Amino acid sequence: MIVTTKELFKHAYGKYAIGAYNINNLEQTVGLFRGNLGKVASNEEKVDNAKSAPFIVQISRGARGYSDKRFLEAMIRTAEEVFPEVIFAVHLDHGTEEACYDCIDSGFYSSVMIDASHHEFAENVAITKKVVERAHDKGIVVEAELGQLGGVEEDIVGSVCLTDPGQAAEFVEKSGCDSLAVAIGTSHGAYKFSGKQGLRFDVLEKIQAAVPKDFPLVMHGSSSVPKEWVDRINNAGGQLGASSGVAEDQYLPAAKLGVCKINIDTDGRLVWCAIHRESFRDDPKNFDLRPPGKTFMAAYAEYITHKNSVLGSAGQLESVRKSLG
Ligand code: G3H
Ligand code: 13P
Ligand code: ZN
Repeated sequence: MIVTTKELFKHAYGKYAIGAYNINNLEQTVGLFRGNLGKVASNEEKVDNAKSAPFIVQISRGARGYSDKRFLEAMIRTAEEVFPEVIFAVHLDHGTEEACYDCIDSGFYSSVMIDASHHEFAENVAITKKVVERAHDKGIVVEAELGQLGGVEEDIVGSVCLTDPGQAAEFVEKSGCDSLAVAIGTSHGAYKFSGKQGLRFDVLEKIQAAVPKDFPLVMHGSSSVPKEWVDRINNAGGQLGASSGVAEDQYLPAAKLGVCKINIDTDGRLVWCAIHRESFRDDPKNFDLRPPGKTFMAAYAEYITHKNSVLGSAGQLESVRKSLG
């Protein structure tokens, strides 16, 4: 069942975070849907309620352009038929105004992100407000962003600029957005922290205190970049540099401070890369795409169940279903 992120956030607020996972292709889609029902190696496995979780499927503009956006919609609709127990939102990640309108008009997306964070405050408010009006007319919810993450956001090269708590409150009020992505020290990609840095909980606490009660916050750039996966890639011929991400034990403390959505893309790419590199290293005569594809779907599903356990969303699916009535 496709729901809005608003419905998911209402259930999660202050207790746990919903995983927002980017997809680009079929294998990621199958692994993602399996993982959120606690299945691993096959679609036919029994649903594991203790591992089942609500989730958000994220589609970036890059993903929409990779093949054709209609393939993504068709895959997700099919996944919903194959896995009828799932509850999830379909969300546009880092949208421009134009991409938001396209998704709003498509009748498929239940949530869009307008990312005008690279504009100055008043312009960010104005653009976000326009998107909010169009989205709300159709019952679609809007995530906006204030502050800039380090690193590269699609084609926006940002320097770190943490969200100002006072501005966050004003932004929410003036723009009418339904959730707000905040910059609290993370960045996109595999190279987030050079030392022992982590999330800026001091800033997050101030933001939570400034915005309206129970207002959902979002954390981008939240992959944990597990050393295990980086090592597996490098042991199979990869050349990733020393990298680190958000420590998994920081997710729940962030959720307690109002973070309801945690964005994870890079970790999925690392799993994909490790599995494929190992597959070709270990079976150099193979040229069939299915053996690594099959291993990847299972590994990704398992990784998603792990992620949901550290986000606290594992085991919440049936309670979410009840809350939806
Ligand atoms: O924030 C960016 C996401 O990781 C999506 O990445 O634009 O390469 O699909 P992408
Ligand atoms: P990561 O690069 O840390 O996975 O972040 C993904 C993201 O924020 C998507 O919007
Ligand atoms: Zn992002």
